[in-house]
Amino acid sequence: MKFKAIKLYEENGKRISRMIEQTIDDLAPGDVVIQSQYAAVNYKDARAVTGVGKVLSNLPAVPGVEVAGLVVESSNDQFKVGDVVTVQGGREFGMRRDGAYSEYVRVPGSWVAHVPEDTDPFESVAMGLAAYTSALAVDELLLRGVKPEHGPILVTGATGGSSSFAIDMLAGLGYRVVASTGKKDTEAAYLKSIGAAEVIGRDEIAGGDKSLEEQRWAGAIDAVGGKPLDDVLRSTKQRGVVCAFGNAAGETFSTSIYPFILRAVSLVGINGNHPVPTRGGVWQRMQKGGDLRPKHIHQIAYTIAFDDLKSHCDKLISSGVRGRAVVQF
Ligand SMILES: NC(=O)c1ccc[n+]([C@@H]2O[C@H](COP(=O)([O-])OP(=O)(O)OC[C@H]3O[C@@H](n4cnc5c(N)ncnc54)[C@H](OP(=O)(O)O)[C@@H]3O)[C@@H](O)[C@H]2O)c1
Repeated sequence: MKFKAIKLYEENGKRISRMIEQTIDDLAPGDVVIQSQYAAVNYKDARAVTGVGKVLSNLPAVPGVEVAGLVVESSNDQFKVGDVVTVQGGREFGMRRDGAYSEYVRVPGSWVAHVPEDTDPFESVAMGLAAYTSALAVDELLLRGVKPEHGPILVTGATGGSSSFAIDMLAGLGYRVVASTGKKDTEAAYLKSIGAAEVIGRDEIAGGDKSLEEQRWAGAIDAVGGKPLDDVLRSTKQRGVVCAFGNAAGETFSTSIYPFILRAVSLVGINGNHPVPTRGGVWQRMQKGGDLRPKHIHQIAYTIAFDDLKSHCDKLISSGVRGRAVVQF
């Protein structure tokens, strides 16, 4: 049996992805074979497919870090043929070895989790790494005592997949959410529909260039890094908490010491690259009935065809897209 996969090659110093045909024998090692139903499109997946940066190593290899589907072969006690499962392999699957963009995948059982019976596999992948990472950030704000009465929470890169889920969860917990976006003219209505109370432009975060600006944010969830992260820190309130997990605006940033030593602002790094079976309490709280369950999954996430994945990734990298695309196989 032959089936389709996207594979990334290195040729003449350039990274190029192609839709190819392969067989089960071509798949990476593992004890569970899954027929793919849905695969997420994260920022890093789009970088991998378009050959931007070095997200994926050990080429040629299949990109894509998250998939859900049906078990079709298993020598692992925990999974049997017909089980509906999801896979996220930390920093291995789709990063150091073949990943999700293939109609069949083979993986170690330690990366596989059952999709709960009351959950649609689409919803599991639609939330996936994006919502889980945002949930970790929201949980940090809760753990560090940031309460709705302390003031607004800023979310940057607001129309992105992860940030859209952060807005949804924060609003659901009663916070006043201010969404910062490069698409204020076209996407304000979308951002308000998923929970933002106010929408501002990327250049409206700090209001000036001083090392400390007006105290505006009780907390922030930053998906972009770079200059906007400096703007966020300079305009965060006394004892405010800034959770950072992204690099869409830059991998480095510079800031002054003053937000930290004069306002006791905390900068907290968030890493969501945990295989689903190790995600623990926060992932559980995102399931139906939990306090971190997003309310607008079907507004934020939508399906695209496998054949349209490459053009979608080009668009995501060049101009940004709204919400979170999920490949339907
Ligand atoms: N640490 C972790 O574990 C972890 C996990 C998941 C994701 N991430 C990171 O989080 C970020 C978001 O991921 P995602 O999958 O949600 O991506 P995404 O859907 O592509 O969203 C990224 C958003 O960032 C904004 N943006 C893009 N380019 C920008 C620029 N040059 N300057 C300022 N803003 C820009 C855009 O939003 P607006 O147009 O609305 O401003 C865009 O929609 C990525 O950097 C990703 O690598 C990290």
